Amino acid sequence: MCGIVGYIGVSQAAPILLDGLSKLEYRGYDSAGLAVYDGDKIQLQKATGRLKVLSELTHDGATMPGVAGIGHTRWATHGAPSNSNAHPHFNREETIAVVHNGIIENYLKLKKYLEGKGYQFTSDTDTEVVAHLLDYYYKGDPIEAITRMMHRVEGSYALGILFQAHPGLLYAVRKDSPLIVGRSKDGNLIASDVPAVLKYTRNVYFIENEEISILSGEDICFYNVDGEEIQKESTAIDWDMNAAEKGGYEHFMLKEMYEQPQTVRDTLNPRIKEYNVDIEELGMTDEEIRSIQKIHIVACGSAYHAGFTAKYVFEGMARIPVDVDLASEFRYRNPILQEHDLVIIISQSGETADSLAALREAKNRGVQTLGIVNVVGSSIAREADRVMYTWAGPEIAVATTKAYSAQLIAEYLLAIKFAQVRGELTKEETTSYLKDLHKLPEQIEMLLSNKEKIQHFANRYISAKDVFFVGRGIDYAISMEGSLKLKEISYIHSEAYAAGELKHGTISLIEEGTLVAAVLTQEALYKKTISNIVELTSRGAFVLAVTNTGNTEIEKAADYVIYIPQTNRWFTNSLAIIPLQLFSYYVSLGKGCDVDKPRNLAKSVTVE
Ligand code: AGP
Repeated sequence: MCGIVGYIGVSQAAPILLDGLSKLEYRGYDSAGLAVYDGDKIQLQKATGRLKVLSELTHDGATMPGVAGIGHTRWATHGAPSNSNAHPHFNREETIAVVHNGIIENYLKLKKYLEGKGYQFTSDTDTEVVAHLLDYYYKGDPIEAITRMMHRVEGSYALGILFQAHPGLLYAVRKDSPLIVGRSKDGNLIASDVPAVLKYTRNVYFIENEEISILSGEDICFYNVDGEEIQKESTAIDWDMNAAEKGGYEHFMLKEMYEQPQTVRDTLNPRIKEYNVDIEELGMTDEEIRSIQKIHIVACGSAYHAGFTAKYVFEGMARIPVDVDLASEFRYRNPILQEHDLVIIISQSGETADSLAALREAKNRGVQTLGIVNVVGSSIAREADRVMYTWAGPEIAVATTKAYSAQLIAEYLLAIKFAQVRGELTKEETTSYLKDLHKLPEQIEMLLSNKEKIQHFANRYISAKDVFFVGRGIDYAISMEGSLKLKEISYIHSEAYAAGELKHGTISLIEEGTLVAAVLTQEALYKKTISNIVELTSRGAFVLAVTNTGNTEIEKAADYVIYIPQTNRWFTNSLAIIPLQLFSYYVSLGKGCDVDKPRNLAKSVTVE
């Protein structure tokens, strides 16, 4: 996510802004910038790379006089890392400056509208639309301009805004992206997150959705989207800096698990227009989609598991043959690739060495490539013929959760688009599927609210030696990810097996009390997997079942059941993985492991 800081008061703003941004560096970023009112006009300074570059450029802020300003660290979502894409963004007269965290879902439509009104854009960002829209609506009253902008913009935003014509005021607006206001003895501040203001104040206001805050050096006022003033209570923050960086969560992994609903919305919503999948960003014609004869999905680790789910979804929904390969195997096995094949490389970091090598291998053979990547401007994103970003924001914990969930969403959208173009899905089915996708964030939120129940169950297994995860079809793919989550953060040996494979050897490993997590989300396979569960419990296994609400038949066979809400059979992975993530997290926590930085592991494996 991007980082926002703002200050207005009696001290020089720029050093305070730089200090606040330095407290948000943990969120990950690729560029930074400041805008400060210097008594005459708004001065702007931006720089790609580390915050240090901006600090050196401004002599730690000394070259930017003025007591009111906004600052930003950018995590690129729309537009690669560059000075022109860095925030703050100006309107054309450079009298309005904006910093933004979030995603403007309808920015392309608004950009076309504003270009039609004569506005010229200097960046590839969605944010610049806000600066010009404010300009378009500004007739002397910032609140009127802001509220009219809010009624046009769709998506998530936390905004810091300076109006040159109103130098003694700083404006903040929030919808879905967090934004706080802090009151200190020397002035007032805004920030994306508490760490940026803790040095100056522990007395903060949490801006709620569609609220506006106006700060002067002395006062703080709040308004609703109708421009009516509202009263708010402040909160005393008792977190230390370490807790504050995690938003009050104990670990980044838990924080990122709880960000999954918003991650799903951010990756999904900009790509659905009137119940049609809009992936214009890929520049794939219907003809090209219809010509695909086979898809090769290539990745590592959890990205590979997401790809394994995609095999069932693409084959089931779009009837396109799919091979799924570990990148470290694909790159050396002299793969058989045909002219009309599509190679999809999935990678959160976009820098995994094996996945990058696999991409280059595919390109060397003249095959079309598509990257599903989280980090904008990363090697895989730049080198793939096409890229579909997962807008999960920076993922700090080594064990992926929200990026994995975003990869699933990207795959579902591709599969629906391909299926529809190839005549495998009717318009009605597409609408129904997209409605199911829209329900996922709330369903994930509901599953996350189960954490105490899962923590209680997990505490029974912190001494486990072997844990098995089994399932059939998509449930097998879910089992793979559930097993890796447990292994990588709790160091407990675990394996995932196709449930039908147990009798071919694995079942000999089952002893009295061995924990087996059975995933049953595919109704057509319930009975088959239930019979596997009976085979397991009759040999002493303790079976935890993860299944759809309503599949009560499972109660007769499994020892412990976690139900997930009903959704489309192709999308169950997005829900079933949540309790498995929580289970692994609490086992690791119970064992006292380093949840965010497990031993021997790196967040991005950039070497072979
Ligand atoms: C998953 O929790 C691990 N962090 C690891 O398996 C990871 O998924 C794998 O290394 C691939 O990383 P990438 O998505 O950045 O390419």
